[in-house]
Amino acid sequence: GDYSGVWRPQVHFSPPTEFMNDPNGMFVDANGTYHLYYQYNPTATVAGNQHWGHATSTDLYHWQNQKIAIFATENSQIFSGSAVIDVNNTSGFFPNQDNGVVAIYTLNTPYAQVQEIAWSIDGGYTFEKYSGNPVLELSPNSTQFRDPKVVWYEDHWVMVIAYSQEFVIGVFTSPDLKEWTHASNFSHHGLLGLQYECPNLVQMPVEGGDPMWVLTISINPGAPLGGSITEYFPGTFNGTHFTAVDAAARLGDFSKDNYAGQFFYGIPPTEEQIYIGWASNWEYSQVVPTGQSEGWRSAMTVPRRTKLANVTRVGWNMMDQPYDLSPILDSPLATNDSLGNGSIFIDYSSLDSKAIYFQCNVSSIPNGTYSMGTLNFTFSSSQTQESVSGGFFFGGDNPFWMNRGKVLGFGETNPFFTDKFSVGNPINANGTFVLEGIIDRSILEVFLDQGRAVGTMTFFPEGVLDTMVLKTAGLNEGVVVSVAVWGLKSAWA
Ligand code: FRU
Repeated sequence: GDYSGVWRPQVHFSPPTEFMNDPNGMFVDANGTYHLYYQYNPTATVAGNQHWGHATSTDLYHWQNQKIAIFATENSQIFSGSAVIDVNNTSGFFPNQDNGVVAIYTLNTPYAQVQEIAWSIDGGYTFEKYSGNPVLELSPNSTQFRDPKVVWYEDHWVMVIAYSQEFVIGVFTSPDLKEWTHASNFSHHGLLGLQYECPNLVQMPVEGGDPMWVLTISINPGAPLGGSITEYFPGTFNGTHFTAVDAAARLGDFSKDNYAGQFFYGIPPTEEQIYIGWASNWEYSQVVPTGQSEGWRSAMTVPRRTKLANVTRVGWNMMDQPYDLSPILDSPLATNDSLGNGSIFIDYSSLDSKAIYFQCNVSSIPNGTYSMGTLNFTFSSSQTQESVSGGFFFGGDNPFWMNRGKVLGFGETNPFFTDKFSVGNPINANGTFVLEGIIDRSILEVFLDQGRAVGTMTFFPEGVLDTMVLKTAGLNEGVVVSVAVWGLKSAWA
């Protein structure tokens, strides 16, 4: 692949060429190699002819593109699914090894969606389709039954899968990945949209408590902001039944470009789980301008480390922060520990990657109030004056906002490419506020208050974004604002 295009993310995964959507089959092996598969059409920059593309990494930023792992045939595509390591050879495929990999995916044909498995004796690089496929199909057959995500629970395998248009997540169990028994349904929960897709069941650590379970459900179309989005339900799971802690639907992202994400298989529940999502939206993923000019479409989010926290009034809340950035962190471009009311200007036109990580901490609030201040950041193009910006209003509901409406081209003409996103009150219980962000040519991700709220936003400027301004105003005397901005090293150069 050619990763030099002006919109090509330099610290995010994107396919070598052509079209990518959902992450699939994510697992980490015993040597610490992360495997990322993905919905891949290797023959066009739009969806169709879906294969499983494949890439590997040891730090989750530097990816090695691998050969296509599972191939579509003329009349059937390999849709989304998951992968596990069958350490104990429950499947019988691996008499002589403890590192056999089994992929569980949906075979999509015009007549039905059925679940198949494929096995790999070489650690996930090449797969053989099981001769006894399909391993799970509905009777009568359904064309809307897909996206199996499998995990291990004590002494058996558990699959969550979407009966998409019935708004049901089915739970199935199996001793060997071949015979599956229906165990329970989790249905009509949260926002329905028009379909449920890509469920995940994952156990994650809790600040100051035992690990808890989370069920994620992706909905498309029909997200509150249009198109696709992912919601999640913290809860309990007993090996057959998932029960949500409350009736709330919690959104994984307050913007529009984070869908169908997965958690890596193989990370102990006491450790932060690692998430990667598809950083796009079905409303426009197949028409964004990278297709025509650079021959690729869609990137993944950065890897995110994830846990649950019990947040005042809100209850259980997923906390997402960028996974350890040290392998790509370059030298600081600016640091200021006492900005107060002031501004920082950075010209990063000489930074090859044009990718930046920034952090703002607002603390020491005299009298516990900020007055009616603002903290704004703007990334702009010195050639075209286009900009992408975001900021925080202190006072009232303390909303945070992001804006991609000052970018020319695609965003001006596509009706679904919404300009602005906002989220209410992402302030810490103690009144402090932390903003972290990663901007990478055509994508911005922000993490507010240790990841309590996350926003993922793509954009395709005609000029290269090469300057950053960060500015605070109206803050009370004595409010301490510390800012640090780093360049990021390209993982693809
Ligand atoms: C979600 C999805 C899945 C399906 C895949 C097909 O984005 O629609 O439900 O398996 O994409 O590429």
